[in-house]
Amino acid sequence: MQVSRLSFEGFRNLKPGCFEPHPGVNVIVGENAQGKTNLLEAIWLFTGTKSFRSAKDSELVAFDCDQSRLEMNFEAGGRDQQAEITIQNRRVATLNGIKQSSAAKLAGVFCGIVFSPVHLSLIKGGPAERRRLIDAAYCQLRPTYVKTLSEYARILAQRNALCKAQDTGEAAAEMMDLWDRQLAQAGCRILHARQRYVQRMATVARKIYQGLSSGKEAFDLRYVSTVNILPEETPAEMAAKLYEELRLHRRADFSAGFTTVGPHRDDMEVYINGISARSFGSQGQQRSAVLAIKLAEAALLEEVTGEKPIALLDDVMSELDHSRQEYILNHIKDWQVFITCCDPEPLKALKDGQKIYVKSGELSTK
Ligand SMILES: Nc1ncnc2c1ncn2[C@@H]1O[C@H](COP(=O)(O)OP(=O)(O)OP(=O)(O)O)[C@@H](O)[C@H]1O
Ligand SMILES: [Mg+2]
Repeated sequence: MQVSRLSFEGFRNLKPGCFEPHPGVNVIVGENAQGKTNLLEAIWLFTGTKSFRSAKDSELVAFDCDQSRLEMNFEAGGRDQQAEITIQNRRVATLNGIKQSSAAKLAGVFCGIVFSPVHLSLIKGGPAERRRLIDAAYCQLRPTYVKTLSEYARILAQRNALCKAQDTGEAAAEMMDLWDRQLAQAGCRILHARQRYVQRMATVARKIYQGLSSGKEAFDLRYVSTVNILPEETPAEMAAKLYEELRLHRRADFSAGFTTVGPHRDDMEVYINGISARSFGSQGQQRSAVLAIKLAEAALLEEVTGEKPIALLDDVMSELDHSRQEYILNHIKDWQVFITCCDPEPLKALKDGQKIYVKSGELSTK
């Protein structure tokens, strides 16, 4: 995966222009509020996903324009491709001259990962953020997983409704048993997928973190389930355990008014030197941990698709010491990388690649 050219018009504060990235590291430098993140955001939209910081597509359109136009030439699947995105109220995409039914159709054609300071909530925030990360990453690897998630959510909503109704009749008890069986069947596939994905992610992230910390700190990830599952168990074994837990919790769930056990209550714990990164990690350690997780996500994507995803790293350098910055600039060689930063000082360590300066939405290489 490689971006060879990107042009933009009417996008956020970026002045109409174009940009030909380096195949390796591209460092985007500029003071605050100049348009660095906007440039990353423009590239990110070609993954077919919505912006990593705006809920509404219409916010992407420059204040004084009625539409945005982005055009990208890139190499993927061993050939040169071209895509266009226009945004008015929503995103519309064209791929190799063919209009797509939705911009989401670009997913899987152009792929990448993004690190942004908002992702620090992966460590600091609640478990829902971490479950979302695992599920979203796994969906990129196995698109059918989306169906499993929605099936689970549908059955869970029905079971929750029954818990809330607090109906102690015989018919309700039979209904509950039915939901528990169905929930266990859908839930075990989630448990199995997440458990295995986190294990694989941990193996890769440990190595990346070791590089980042110059071998001084040990990193680990663990899937923490409300169901007492073991990594080597089969989906059928996990289903039996989940069913049993649901059954045992029926009374408590009636009192709570919702389902208190199952994959929707699980978490992923992040450890640095054997202790929780959330409770005890320093700012730099937490940032390094998120970066390691994101880069591991890219590595697993590459393993499965055979394509090297692009990496967009927004404001990753701040709070990191010199050796961690040097590692980011010079050791993430496999992928085309886009890194934004305000401070040009660490860039002295950049050995190969390109610097792009952004000022008031205008790009220059000098
Ligand atoms: N739709 C829009 N139209 C015009 N300008 C916009 C739009 N959306 C955001 N901006 C402006 O773009 C400017 C640059 O934003 P951006 O987030 O890219 O800055 P940055 O260079 O990444 O800064 P920082 O270093 O602080 O992260 C902001 O000042 C913002 O007001
Ligand atoms: Mg920014």
